[in-house]
Amino acid sequence: MNLVKSVSVVGILFLAACAHKPADRVEGLTYVGLADGNTSFVRTIAPKNGQCPQARIVKGTEETELILNQNKFDSTVVCEATLPEGTTSVVVGERRIQIPASPKRIVVFGDTGCRLKGDYYQDCNNPNEWPFLRIVKAIQQEQADLIVHVGDYHYRESCKDPVKCAPFKDTLGYGYRPWEADFLYPAATLLQTTPFLFVRGNHEDCQRAHEGFSKLLTPLGENSCPKFQDTRYTKFGSLLVVNFDNATMPDTGLDPKGSEMTMWREHYRKMIEQIKTRPETEVWVVLHRPIWGLSPNWNGPAAVLPVNLNMQLLAKEMPFPKKVKFVFAGHIHNTQVSTGKRPVHVVVGEGGTALDHYDAATRKLIPAGFTVLPSTHGYMVLEQDAKNQWVGTVKDAEGKANYKCSLEQPQAPCTLQ
Ligand SMILES: [Fe+2]
Repeated sequence: MNLVKSVSVVGILFLAACAHKPADRVEGLTYVGLADGNTSFVRTIAPKNGQCPQARIVKGTEETELILNQNKFDSTVVCEATLPEGTTSVVVGERRIQIPASPKRIVVFGDTGCRLKGDYYQDCNNPNEWPFLRIVKAIQQEQADLIVHVGDYHYRESCKDPVKCAPFKDTLGYGYRPWEADFLYPAATLLQTTPFLFVRGNHEDCQRAHEGFSKLLTPLGENSCPKFQDTRYTKFGSLLVVNFDNATMPDTGLDPKGSEMTMWREHYRKMIEQIKTRPETEVWVVLHRPIWGLSPNWNGPAAVLPVNLNMQLLAKEMPFPKKVKFVFAGHIHNTQVSTGKRPVHVVVGEGGTALDHYDAATRKLIPAGFTVLPSTHGYMVLEQDAKNQWVGTVKDAEGKANYKCSLEQPQAPCTLQ
């Protein structure tokens, strides 16, 4: 299956309407990003007639019209509007996106793009090398009511080999087209049906793809790049999902008393204080760089390296309140679960980009309290069992369950399926 030749629902729509366009464009794609109660948003990409559509907003039994305003990213028109607090569904044209009051089935995944950087070449047209589209198709079958992307959407930065890179020459760099090829097009069938919570990854930092992230996937649309965006608090009844931006924080330790760490400490402190004052009884924190993750040592003898040292220091200084049940992260390209005197910590970074494998020598060094599953592209589905405890099923790119992790049991065991 070739990405360019593959035909998605969106592809069919656009091919039918505009036969000269390649199938990997997403004109008219509408999606919803959840943020705070008053900053969640709807976006429509480059409508075919150039006019921004009207959305219909459903709030309980009320239905109102919402005008989308025109903005631009690169030279592409992006229509956007903020959703009124309490919106329960958004309708644009024939499409309806339902915002769950209390999500029962949640997919978490991350690190989805196709890595092209200098000499590093992942074949974006080979679904075995870059299986993001396969993963999206598998997730479609899950009928999830919420999708959390834990960051790193954009990987198509540069490509040196003139022959290998020829098919991708129009989709490199940080403009709109690489974003469309790396994320909007392959994810379109999910985006148009299910609300997303978008976390910023380090690939979306100020030297890389921040502009596209901000204009396509946040309520902000910033032109200047901040070290971090404000923390977002998305409420689903008694569950609060806290989206904490640590994309630009280095993984290696900063001077604990230095000005940069002081800035991060303040950002983190605000989140902890806000969580304490919120009425919700269950909190999940979603971020890109893990707090208690393990990375293999790429340059030197076998070792497992803690990721991220600065987040670990902050969590030690200001522990999470007890109601924080889980932390979900990406950044490392495998699936990990770790436990201790702190929230259960889950890394899910197998969404499509090249995987991080642990060799046998590295595996022997994994400390107690950490589970690192064999690296396989895919995603995690979260749902509650009969005892109302969250279970995370780790699935591959075809939707086959590989492991079930009982995240609320002691040591959060993962069992082979
Ligand atoms: Fe990352």
